[in-house]
Amino acid sequence: MRFILAVLTLIACCHRPLDVYGQSAEPTRADSLRGAAAGRFEIGVGINDRIPEQKENWPLLKQQFSIITPENCMKPQSIQRTLGAFDFQVPDRFVEFAVTHDLRIVGHCLVWAKDDRTYDWYYKEGDRALNGQELNARMRSDIHKLVSRYRGKIAMWDVVNEALDDGEEYLRPSGWVSACGETFIAEAFRAAHEADPEALLIYNDYNNELPKKREKMLRLIRSLQEQNVPLHAIGLQGHYEIDRIPFDEIEQTIVDVRKLGLKVVVSELDIDVIPRGRWWAENGKYREELATLDPYPNGLPDDLQQRLAEQYAKLFSIFAKHSDAILRVSFWNLHDGESWLNYFPWKRVNHPLLFDRDRLPKPAYDAVLKALATRS
Ligand code: GLA
Repeated sequence: MRFILAVLTLIACCHRPLDVYGQSAEPTRADSLRGAAAGRFEIGVGINDRIPEQKENWPLLKQQFSIITPENCMKPQSIQRTLGAFDFQVPDRFVEFAVTHDLRIVGHCLVWAKDDRTYDWYYKEGDRALNGQELNARMRSDIHKLVSRYRGKIAMWDVVNEALDDGEEYLRPSGWVSACGETFIAEAFRAAHEADPEALLIYNDYNNELPKKREKMLRLIRSLQEQNVPLHAIGLQGHYEIDRIPFDEIEQTIVDVRKLGLKVVVSELDIDVIPRGRWWAENGKYREELATLDPYPNGLPDDLQQRLAEQYAKLFSIFAKHSDAILRVSFWNLHDGESWLNYFPWKRVNHPLLFDRDRLPKPAYDAVLKALATRS
């Protein structure tokens, strides 16, 4: 009898994966984002590099999400702090954690095309600036090293991040553009594809759904396609601000990108409830005033909680409507207490996500589940 019971238990365990706390880890449609979106797109999250040590976050992570992006540890400035000194310790642990826990991985990011996100030495040999060919060769070799290290384990890569200009230029002025013109973008994608031909390759940016920047992005896509560059998807970061979400432009962008034969990923979704746009307005004129603004230290008032829910729901209705074009929707951070918006661009208690500081679902969570349940 004992033996039969043991066999039965074993069979049951094999069918229903157990999480660390011994609960069933198989999320269902009704009680998880990943379940509710199943068959349409993946639900992901950008997560603290220390997740392998943060056991308290594992149940929520595994219940709700199926694919994770490391917040910082795979960025070029973390991987190689000085020329040739590669540090894979943290990313190795991250990848091992994801594989062990049956989570898929987004690699982020191979080139961050901004001067404040690229060490000055990267553009140089001693004091001499590298020419385009040399800089491309350095970048290609670094991409080969990183992508091949995790070949087969990383499902998709943000290959180039934030290369488009916010102002009047096409590409953001940087050491990359000065040395290489546009070529570093195509070369980065080619190198990533050589190192892992199975990985899905993404161009990722912010505000790229707004008309001016969207035109530049479509131009970039066409240019890369004319050169037969292996570009598979566009990342809309999706760092939005409450009451200012450009719903129509988001929808238009999904349609435009689909027309060009590419997929869309929403790569870093959150909704700031303490709008930050004025921080950059009029040469920083409002910064002093904003730096002390911290209106919700003890939680969100009901009406704001409600608006947050409605606006998340509206976003997910758009995503659901265009799910044939969307591969993934990833939030940026697991719960409100972990959000980068608590300290960027100034310190404040923020509430931009679906889970609060106790990791409990907010009204916005239910609203998103409801939006996903309504088939259009
Ligand atoms: C950008 C980057 C992300 C992250 C966020 C803010 O969107 O792509 O890696 O740094 O900013 O945390």
